[in-house]
Amino acid sequence: MSDTATPTVIRREDYAPPAFLIDTVDLEFDLVPERTVVKSTLRVRRNPDAKPAAHLELMGEQLEFIGAAIDGEPYATVRAHEHGLTVENVPDAFTLTLTGACDPAANTTLSGLYVSGGNFFTQCEAEGFRRITWFLDRPDVMATYTVTLRADKTAYPVLLSNGNLIAEGDLSDGRHYAKWEDPFRKPSYLFALVAGKLVALEEHITSGSGKEKLLQVWVEPHDLDKTRHAMDSLIHAIRWDEQRFGLELDLDRFMIVAVSDFNMGAMENKGLNIFNTKYVLANPETATDVDFANIEAVVGHEYFHNWTGNRVTCRDWFQLSLKEGLTVFRDQEFSAAMSGGDENEAARATRRIEDVRVLRQMQFAEDAGPMAHPVRPESYVEINNFYTMTVYEKGAEVVRMYQTLLGRDGFRKGMDLYFQRHDGHAVTCDDFRRAMADANGRDLAQFERWYSQAGTPRVAVTTSYDEGTRCYSVTLTQGYTNGSPAARETQKGPLHIPFAIGLIGPDGADLPLRLEGETAAQGTTRVLELTETQQTFTFADVLAKPLPSLLRNFSAPVVVDYDYGNDELAFLLAHDSDAFNRWEAGQRLATRELLALAGRAAASQPLEINDALVDAFRRVLTDELLSPSFRELALMLPSETYLAEQMAQSDPAAVHAARQFVRKQLAAALKAQWLAAYERNVTPGAYEPTPEAAGHRGLKNLALSYLSELDDSAEAVRLATAQYEAANNMTDRSAALSALLNAQTATGGALDDPARAALEDFYVRFEKEPLVIDKWFALQATQRGTAQRPTIETVRALMGHPAFNIRNPNRARSLIFSFCAANPAQFHAADGSGYTFWADQVIALDALNPQVAARLARNLELWRRFTPTLRDAMRAALERVAAEAKSRDVREIVEKALA
Ligand code: TRP
Ligand code: ZN
Repeated sequence: MSDTATPTVIRREDYAPPAFLIDTVDLEFDLVPERTVVKSTLRVRRNPDAKPAAHLELMGEQLEFIGAAIDGEPYATVRAHEHGLTVENVPDAFTLTLTGACDPAANTTLSGLYVSGGNFFTQCEAEGFRRITWFLDRPDVMATYTVTLRADKTAYPVLLSNGNLIAEGDLSDGRHYAKWEDPFRKPSYLFALVAGKLVALEEHITSGSGKEKLLQVWVEPHDLDKTRHAMDSLIHAIRWDEQRFGLELDLDRFMIVAVSDFNMGAMENKGLNIFNTKYVLANPETATDVDFANIEAVVGHEYFHNWTGNRVTCRDWFQLSLKEGLTVFRDQEFSAAMSGGDENEAARATRRIEDVRVLRQMQFAEDAGPMAHPVRPESYVEINNFYTMTVYEKGAEVVRMYQTLLGRDGFRKGMDLYFQRHDGHAVTCDDFRRAMADANGRDLAQFERWYSQAGTPRVAVTTSYDEGTRCYSVTLTQGYTNGSPAARETQKGPLHIPFAIGLIGPDGADLPLRLEGETAAQGTTRVLELTETQQTFTFADVLAKPLPSLLRNFSAPVVVDYDYGNDELAFLLAHDSDAFNRWEAGQRLATRELLALAGRAAASQPLEINDALVDAFRRVLTDELLSPSFRELALMLPSETYLAEQMAQSDPAAVHAARQFVRKQLAAALKAQWLAAYERNVTPGAYEPTPEAAGHRGLKNLALSYLSELDDSAEAVRLATAQYEAANNMTDRSAALSALLNAQTATGGALDDPARAALEDFYVRFEKEPLVIDKWFALQATQRGTAQRPTIETVRALMGHPAFNIRNPNRARSLIFSFCAANPAQFHAADGSGYTFWADQVIALDALNPQVAARLARNLELWRRFTPTLRDAMRAALERVAAEAKSRDVREIVEKALA
């Protein structure tokens, strides 16, 4: 696309079935880094359900055309062009053979076939297959694939593709081959191949119905000692899907391959999942508790796609949430179960809190900006830009609401019907909703609005208690937050909102709940179904005025407006039986206080801490009945990014001043309690990545982080140095290093000895572990910085470090993204230096890897919400990117931001 061309907008309403279908695909690869020749043989026929077309239009990009034949005869009327290939005047059914070549060694986009670390990998979702060969590269064209790989045997001893290995052997000239057959029909985005010097950890398991399965985790030889956890996670995922959903592994062999150059987290190619190393490799020395948990979640996620995504796939990319929202929901439920969730309500709540934190911080922000879109978008320019928080995380909340409305058993019935109806097909979000409705005899027509309306819904709550009748009524009014114009355009009517509520009596206990018109009380949490703009629900037999516990377990992705007093929030924090809402009460209390202080900081007024907050935090910190992981979450302040978004005008410097002030006050006022928590939560002995042990480490390291805020940091430095040196795991070692970096900036000086020494030691110790060196870069990019030494200087210096490499997405994320997205106070420096750096990096990445560049480009999309000086500087940076960026990916983002 040229610089000035208006981008092509793809619209959902324009969907039309393909004019041709492809039943079988036979691919032959001669794998050579600079020129891989691909021969593709396709069985093509006209689609009886589509408008007839004379020509077959295949998509293709960056391909060299070598030749074409129809039914074995060379075919002349084939035109290769920039976007693909036109085969003119074709018969009704025929075999098409196409030969072409691509250049994997020069492919820096990491889409299509590329080389990483001397090995070959593919990434085809969403539209990468067309960079390998010409095809109807759209998800509603499903075929069975046979794949032959030929390559030099010494350089590429391992040759993998989807499905089952049916033949292998040696060829002349030191080459060899392998032939793979995938028995299941699939869309082209699920194709994969891997070739290179890899080794595997293997396990044999017997599936639920008694079939033998081979599981493999393929990595580079030096990483074999970091594969156990991924394998265990895979086995747990297989068992969980059998038990919870009755879904079994359908192939004889299931492979996971790790690659260090990868644009996203991982990819669910049929039988051959390809993963970013970050979500596979772990041992106690190199991976943190968070890494271990993320690996379990992502391994689960990709495995679960085998049914939700692969066996039943998407009709078109507007339906992306059909597979992603559902599969995120499934991985969330899996992770909750793995932390002992089904029996342990507190463990379940901590997972839920973490998921909701991400949703509110990232998805709510997306809804407030120019990229706001419904869970099922109406249009896009570049589909890669729609692998978003809305499609994934809000999509998962939408799926969760079915379960909240229908119950676990009802949800399972809906899933069963969904597979019964649609196995082997490419379908829509409407098909999923209909399966849920039909299996439960429910009308879910209104629920469709969750897919078509963008923006964050808001539910305002008012209550009244009548002492005479002992009735308590709750009025719910729904609308939307003041989101972006993009979101407002889609808002047509009220949503079907499951609103879970409890009532808490003066003694802190839940009241039994009887709604007016019911004969007896049922339970202590009720899911009210709000379907109108305003509805009043009246509870009877309420003996004293209760305190409402609203939206328990975050039963819908909405903002709740209710005017709690500080004392009421403290009461909920102490007593609510719903662990999520206990946490929520603490967050509301802290947010209120922090926003007030940020307002004062912005006006250069003196800051003072509210004792109510200190008291509430003291109670949580010292409540030994609460699990350490819950206490860690409850004692963590809302992030600076989240707080800045709550202000009428985002002021990152003021938010930072306020939040730092509160951290320092909490550190000082509760010093003895933090020290006690530190001592009490040490985890001696061998490292175990269990939720309990991780909870202890989390609380201990949070205590250390608060202590590192003290003006007199000697004690924190002593503890952190000792912890750094004695650590037998990465969680403790990186937390200690972070505390040392924090303690030195807290005192305002240049990098002092303990921090410098630890930083140097860390680098030398882990020089050969790229994922750990990523942490080393990220820790420095998120450093606080001082007036004398702003973090941008550190970041600029690190860009020239020999270990920095902008072509590796993990490394680019560890330094550039960490600074731009995870260090708001430094990034939004008043002199605009952060924005200049951002624009430089977006432009540099744009030429190498548009997908990654476009992610970084999104970092300024909320520019209109900032204070005037910052806003103007951000606009200038965006305009520079708009003038220079070439890719469709980046252009869509910056043009929407400036529109
Ligand atoms: N389908 C993948 C997942 O969520 C996402 C993914 C992996 C992806 N790699 C990609 C999406 C590249 C777009 C481009 O599990
Ligand atoms: Zn996914």
